[in-house]
Amino acid sequence: MEKTFSFTVNGQARTVTTDSERSLLEVLREDLQLVGTKYGCGEGKCRACTVLIDGKSVASCVTSVARAEKQTILTIEGLANGDKLHPLQEAFLAEGAMQCGYCVPGMLLGAVSLLRQNPKPTEGEIRSSMEPHLCRCCNYPRIIKAIKRAAQDTKS
Ligand code: FES
Ligand code: FES
Repeated sequence: MEKTFSFTVNGQARTVTTDSERSLLEVLREDLQLVGTKYGCGEGKCRACTVLIDGKSVASCVTSVARAEKQTILTIEGLANGDKLHPLQEAFLAEGAMQCGYCVPGMLLGAVSLLRQNPKPTEGEIRSSMEPHLCRCCNYPRIIKAIKRAAQDTKS
């Protein structure tokens, strides 16, 4: 059934009229043209599609658009502040933490959520928090290093 949903995406109020069964990922990519959020497995098992809803990391492929009603959503397009990259984006660049880059938007949003909850995580905490995120290029060591670097660079 079609319904109208309103939410804030990357600081902007957005309204979409659509089938309430559609996934948030579809709506972000197809209706709002926010294609930085990636489609991987479509089953909640790779986290390529991670976005934040009210600061909490979610797999947008298995999250209905209805769940996002009146919520605040952050996608990869909203992470930088104008021309200034987010510290995690800087750290991923500095550590070369990307090969094909397909997993990176989801990794970054997952890491943002982690560092907001736990600004100085141990390596074990980083590994455990990022475990649901798959990287087909197996770039895990550099991704972990980048998250550690961002945590170190961020003032406590
Ligand atoms: S595409 Fe959403 S978890 Fe894989
Ligand atoms: S860099 Fe290719 S999937 Fe992670």
